[in-house]
Amino acid sequence: MRRTVIAGNWKMNFTPDEARAFINEVKPLVAGKDNCDIIFCAPYVTIAAAQDAAKGSNIKIGAENVHFAEKGAYTGEVSAKMLTACGVEYVIVGHSERRQYFGETDETVNLRAKAALAAGMKVILCLGEVKEQRLSGVTNEVVAMQTKLDLKDVTAEQMKNVIIAYEPVWAIGTGLTATPEQAEETCAVIRETLVSLYGKEVAEETAIQYGGSMNEKNAAELLAKPNVDGGLIGGASLVAEKFAVIVNAAQ
Ligand code: 13P
Repeated sequence: MRRTVIAGNWKMNFTPDEARAFINEVKPLVAGKDNCDIIFCAPYVTIAAAQDAAKGSNIKIGAENVHFAEKGAYTGEVSAKMLTACGVEYVIVGHSERRQYFGETDETVNLRAKAALAAGMKVILCLGEVKEQRLSGVTNEVVAMQTKLDLKDVTAEQMKNVIIAYEPVWAIGTGLTATPEQAEETCAVIRETLVSLYGKEVAEETAIQYGGSMNEKNAAELLAKPNVDGGLIGGASLVAEKFAVIVNAAQ
C-alpha cells in the first residue's frame, strides 16, 4: 500500500537559525507519527541547519528544486549530485512558482525530474491547472497532459521514487482550497493517467498529494479522500502547531 506523505514547502522563508529553531519546535509535536512520511523542503542555504536539527527524528529535509545538468556553466543552480552529496534525498520539481516566475516548462521539469531520479533521489513532481483552465472545464485534460509530459521517459522502476503533488495554481497562497471533491476528482484523473502510462500496479503504489492552501482546518477532509495520499503545504508548514495538526490528520 502506498504511504501518505506530508511535506512542507518552505519556499523562500527561514534563515538557517530560524530553520533550526522551527525543526526543534515541530520535532516533538510529530514524534512517533509513523503513519506518514514527514518532509520539509528547504532553501538550499538552510538545508544543513535543518538536517542537523532533524537528526535522529522522523523528519526528512528535502530541496525545492534541482538543475538537470550534471555540472557546468549554470550560474545559481544546484545539481542532483551536489544535493545527494549533502544527504538530501527528496526534491520538489515543477512547482508552479518555478513555472510562473522562472520560465520552467514541462520540458525542463521533465529534465530536472529525470536528473534527480538518475541520481537516486525521490522527486515530488508538482502539477496543476491555472484558474482560467479550471473555469474553462479543461482541468482534466491539463493535468493528464502535464503528467505525461513531465514523466516522459521516466521508467516504471523509477516511479517508486516519484510522488506527485496536485497543486491547483489558483489555490496556492490564496486561501482558496479545492473542495475535497475537486481534489479527489483531479487526483483520480492523475492516477488514471498513471494507469495508462505504467499500468495499474504502479499507479496504485504512487502517492498523489494535494497542495494549495491546505491547513489545520481543511486537511482532515482532504486527506480522507481515497486518491489524496498526503499534502504539500506552504504557509501552514511555517507554523509548527498547524503543521502538526495536519500530520495528525494523516494518522
Ligand atoms: P500554500 O499552502 O501556501 O497555499 O502553498 C502551497 C504550495 O505551493 C506548496 O508547494
